[in-house]
Amino acid sequence: MFYAPDVSLYSERGSYIPSKAPVFYNPKMSLNRDVTVCVLQAYSEEAGRKLRVCVPMAGCGVRALRFMLETDSVESIVVNDINPAAFSLIKKNFELHGLKDRAFICCEDANTLLSSFASKGDRFDLVDLDPFGSPAPFLESAVRALKPKSAMLCITATDLPLLCGSQPRACLRRYGSMPFKGEYCHEVALRILIAHAVSVAAKHDYALQPALSYYFGHHVRVYFKGRLGAKMADEKLEKIGYLVHCDHCLSRRLIRGLPAPDITRRCPECGKETRIAGPVWCGPLQNEDFLRRVVKVAERKIEKEETLELLAQLLEEANAPPLYYEIHRMCSAARVPCPPIEKVIEALRGMGFSAFRTHFSAISVKTDAPPMKLLALLREFV
Ligand SMILES: C[S@@+](CC[C@H](N)C(=O)[O-])C[C@H]1O[C@@H](n2cnc3c(N)ncnc32)[C@H](O)[C@@H]1O
Ligand SMILES: [Zn+2]
Repeated sequence: MFYAPDVSLYSERGSYIPSKAPVFYNPKMSLNRDVTVCVLQAYSEEAGRKLRVCVPMAGCGVRALRFMLETDSVESIVVNDINPAAFSLIKKNFELHGLKDRAFICCEDANTLLSSFASKGDRFDLVDLDPFGSPAPFLESAVRALKPKSAMLCITATDLPLLCGSQPRACLRRYGSMPFKGEYCHEVALRILIAHAVSVAAKHDYALQPALSYYFGHHVRVYFKGRLGAKMADEKLEKIGYLVHCDHCLSRRLIRGLPAPDITRRCPECGKETRIAGPVWCGPLQNEDFLRRVVKVAERKIEKEETLELLAQLLEEANAPPLYYEIHRMCSAARVPCPPIEKVIEALRGMGFSAFRTHFSAISVKTDAPPMKLLALLREFV
């Protein structure tokens, strides 16, 4: 139980608009909070200790409250929001649960707050950046506030249209990356966000590696494990590169290498001109062992089917090839009706390829089959 704005008071045409409420609260982000509760618990169990946590943009405080009430992982917690009304509500919520003395509650700009915790001895085991829109303006100070030996950084980005190519200039400005507009843009959005955070952290000799990441609804979310180390930060940078996509034959590849790998603009499959996007993260999106731990915690703690299903799906596709194929798009290119996705997966596996469903899209498949083979297979279903 917690105090939050009455959603019925801030609706337009029957839909609640969280940004209209005096204090931010979005019931639709409960999956994000569910996963974070499980990640916090799993990370603490793995580390064998309780954690020092910071929630710099806490809204009404529901996330921080859940950390305290639903895990036994918090040693100390800093809960902050720049909005004075949110600050008051956070205090009220922590009082309601008799937790006010166990939290340091503040009303600061997140960058100012995080910078004030950047010195040795004050830093955090886990920082959770959950802003309006992009976490980019807060990444640098968040990284500086992470413990050097090992820490976790959680970031949400809700500026998905921008990451998916609606405003390429703005994406370049905010993330230093050219976005990709196309049927698998949500995976590319996630990979742009990861590449950007890894690069920002590397400036501070801090190495970040995604331990769990996903796309859901109108946001992408990444949980990074990190530690200080110039050599390790260099190794992470080596996993950044570019996406090369051919609109003609639909082939797609990730090519590692910064600052500028040797990319010919001609498609190696069909010779037509390709599109290039990036920098993007070319490494794995999940750490399978960690994800398995999170799934186990979720099975104990979470009842919501949607959250459990997402985590189970992430585990299933943890080692799947990157860059999914949307079957509708492929069928339209092949000029054939769409077969059921399970049949496509079965047939691909029968041909010796790997094939997985993906959480990114219910009508897509992740496979190492080349697009020509996939198109030929789809034609055979007719
Ligand atoms: C998306 S909401 C956070 C929701 C919350 N984490 C949750 O799970 O319910 C973003 C919050 O960031 C706060 N905010 C915006 N700019 C900020 C800044 N520069 N420093 C600190 N808080 C900020 C807003 O007041 C808002 O409450
Ligand atoms: Zn091509």
